[in-house]
Amino acid sequence: MRRAVCPGSFDPITNGHLDIIERASKLYDVVHVAVLINKNKQGMFSIEERIALIEETTAQYGNIEVESHAGLLVDFCRDRGIPAIIKGLRAVSDFDYELQMAQMNHGLTGVETLFVPTSPTYSFLSSSLVKEVASYGGDVSHLLPEVVNARLVERIAERAR
Ligand code: PNS
Repeated sequence: MRRAVCPGSFDPITNGHLDIIERASKLYDVVHVAVLINKNKQGMFSIEERIALIEETTAQYGNIEVESHAGLLVDFCRDRGIPAIIKGLRAVSDFDYELQMAQMNHGLTGVETLFVPTSPTYSFLSSSLVKEVASYGGDVSHLLPEVVNARLVERIAERAR
């Protein structure tokens, strides 16, 4: 079985994430989507909510396994026999930090990082921007799966009450 992991915060999953996960799913037998828990960051969605949204929106690909992880990404990979990390690169501005992480991870355990160029349609897209625009009432429905957009609108309304 050829395995790879798409890691991230996924707070929440966007069409940009889905683009990368779908393309990875065509290259590997099993694609693990790892929702990394960052203790220092309070998300808009709980880890359980993020996992549920990822499972629902990636079910169509048929070879995706979604899990959370609280430690180092390299440990997640080692424990599951995953030799490759797949990362989307949106723009040159992503590159410096992604290169640092790729080199650090490779130095730690030998795990490889493969960069996939994000579709130009989503090169500006991030979960943070989507949340900011939506929180001011902007329409981001074209950037998110329908179910995610609905949950985001709902969550923002809940918080405003
Ligand atoms: O979606 P994000 O927040 O840009 O994803 C970043 C993430 C979660 C992939 C990265 O911060 C990560 O790998 N965190 C896990 C902890 C870890 O392994 N840190 C060392 C990185 S060299």
